[in-house]
Amino acid sequence: MESVPRDLNLAGVRIDRDHRALTKLIEGVGRICTETAQPDCDRCPAQRYAACIAAVADVGGRVMVFLLDHFAYEERLMRLLPQTPRVHRHCLDHRGEHVEFSTRYNGFVSRLGSDSLLAGAQGLEELVIAWTREHALKYDEELTGLIRLYACA
Ligand SMILES: [Fe+2]
Ligand SMILES: [Fe+2]
Repeated sequence: MESVPRDLNLAGVRIDRDHRALTKLIEGVGRICTETAQPDCDRCPAQRYAACIAAVADVGGRVMVFLLDHFAYEERLMRLLPQTPRVHRHCLDHRGEHVEFSTRYNGFVSRLGSDSLLAGAQGLEELVIAWTREHALKYDEELTGLIRLYACA
C-alpha cells in the first residue's frame, strides 16, 4: 500500500491513477458471457453458470478491496487538511458518499445471480463506472482542489 505523499500535490496523481485502475478492473465484467447467439443464464449448463458466477464474484470482491483502499487513501488526505469549516463540511459529505456507495455496492454484489447473472454483471459494470465518474467530478475534484489550495499556501 502506498503511503500519503509528503508533497500533497502528488495526491491528485494517485487519485486519478486509482480511478483509471478501478475502471479497468470492472470494465468487461458485463461481457462475461461468451454465448453470442442468445445469452440466457436460465438455459446455461450448470457448470458454465457456476464458472461465470465465480468469475463475476471474483471481480466484485477485488473491486471492493480496491475501493476500500482508495477510500482510505482519500480519507487520510482529508485528515491532513486544516479543519476549516469548508474543509470540515467537505470531509463530512465526501466520507458519507464513500459509505453510501460501499453499502449500495455490497448490496448489489450480494444480490448477483438472484435474477439474471448476466444482467447483474452488466448492472455492476455500469454502476461502478457511472458512480466513479460522477463522484470523481464532484467530490474528488473538490478534494484535490482543497489539497492544492493548502499545499501551496
Ligand atoms: Fe472520493
Ligand atoms: Fe476517488
